[in-house]
Amino acid sequence: MRSRLRVLFITSEVYPLCKTGGLGDVSAALPVALRALRTDARLLLPGYPQVLAGVKYQSKVADFSHLTQFPPSTLLSARLSLGGSAAVPVFVIDCPGLFQRTGGPYMDEFGRDWPDNVLRFGLLSKIGAILSSDDSPLAWRPHVAHCNDWQSGLVPAYLHDYPGWKAAVLMTVHNLAYQGIFPPGSVAQLGLPQRSFNIDGVEYYGNLSFLKAGLYYADHITTVSPNYAQEIQTEPLGFGLQGLLAARCDRLTGIVNGIDTCEWDAVTDIHLVKNYSSRSLADKAINKAALQRQMGLAVDAELPLFGAVSRLNYQKGTDLLIQLAPQLLGIPAQLVVLGSGDAALEHQLSVLASNYPDAMAVRIGFDEALSHRVEAGVDCFLMPSRFEPCGLNQMYSQRYGTPPVVHATGGLKDTVIDCVPATLADGSASGFVCASLSSGGLMHTISRAVLAYRNKRTWLRIQQNGMMKDFSWRASAQAYREIYLELSENTVN
Ligand code: ADP
Ligand code: GLC
Repeated sequence: MRSRLRVLFITSEVYPLCKTGGLGDVSAALPVALRALRTDARLLLPGYPQVLAGVKYQSKVADFSHLTQFPPSTLLSARLSLGGSAAVPVFVIDCPGLFQRTGGPYMDEFGRDWPDNVLRFGLLSKIGAILSSDDSPLAWRPHVAHCNDWQSGLVPAYLHDYPGWKAAVLMTVHNLAYQGIFPPGSVAQLGLPQRSFNIDGVEYYGNLSFLKAGLYYADHITTVSPNYAQEIQTEPLGFGLQGLLAARCDRLTGIVNGIDTCEWDAVTDIHLVKNYSSRSLADKAINKAALQRQMGLAVDAELPLFGAVSRLNYQKGTDLLIQLAPQLLGIPAQLVVLGSGDAALEHQLSVLASNYPDAMAVRIGFDEALSHRVEAGVDCFLMPSRFEPCGLNQMYSQRYGTPPVVHATGGLKDTVIDCVPATLADGSASGFVCASLSSGGLMHTISRAVLAYRNKRTWLRIQQNGMMKDFSWRASAQAYREIYLELSENTVN
């Protein structure tokens, strides 16, 4: 019998220690789901201050001061409690010169990229590669190195020319729009072989691209929904990498994200004013009133209350939301927005809200508790994303009896069933899907949602349909495991 499957899950964020978006959620929930499937998944993380403060039972297991391209670092072995599960083993890269600072994982507090990101995530990739080879100072050797987004994209590039035993590499794309592009001099700076600076290698239009390197060298590629896996093989959603992805389509699989069904459960959610289930949806109204009160809106049970929780940027269609807000409020309806991101969009949203004090409220910032209260308190969730690799909020909303209005793109299309007579009849309708993102198209979809909202029986059916859906990680974790198993056939146990 083969030994237990071992996977090194390499990521730049993990909830609750460090989260800027869905990658943090996925990095917390997927390893737990994998461990439940008898897979020894362990995380590799940068030692940001909040990570060093949040992991338990730290012990130093390796020293990397010999890596002369990088400031001195050590590797800690530790444990992290995730989603109420038994603690998950984590390896943390303690490199004070690169990670010990206040600010975000990718940017400082003013929203500027850290100038040494090339080294920060070069080191994450380099140590990921070492731990996945027989140069590893650890006895624990993974069969598969599972890289996530550009920050760990150089792992297979570092491993490519490695002569000894090495793990197979799976590269998961959470968002192709972020590629980790740095000037050509970075190749030498990071100690990559100069010959890899080639179209058949790490080079991308004259620069070094971490993500392209990962896509080129990985043994297999996944992305976070089947629909997005198709979309990224074509313009415009291939962001310049569509040719490479189409050429590797036999090694590209779309696996839809799951959600953490313990963290996101209206029956037990500690952030809610009143817990509820699909059988006690009347209690959802208590959360609506509390949210209206908390956000300074008129407390009104009948007015449809729309909500959005998101990074505020072009991808998320924040500009479209701003454009149609006056029309939406004129239905009449109310709108709550929680988000942060592009400073101009933050400003426009705040100005708009000040014009409609009873009907529109905006909170700029990142607030985990409020995000749960919005999911539970609003009637209908808005996700007018121009593109969305998977998206998690549309799944949280369905689970919370809050039908979403979404654009038919990426994972949104895969996870929301549009409400039309046929889907209402067969019990699958769970939201409202907009085929075209013109403001007319979006407003039309919102009007369809409002019409359904006014018919209490129809609305209840849509809510309950969404709440009954299985968004857990079980099936998707199994799909990852099957890929790991296939890849690991060629690696030594
Ligand atoms: P993305 O990763 O592209 O930002 P996802 O929908 O996959 O989009 O995941 C976003 C995650 O971040 C969700 O858990 C969402 O609730 C959370 N989130 C986004 N913005 C905020 C915010 N301002 N406050 C709290 N949570 C937020
Ligand atoms: C990215 C995507 C989002 C996805 C998340 C987790 O940030 O934008 O759609 O859900 O990663 O995979």
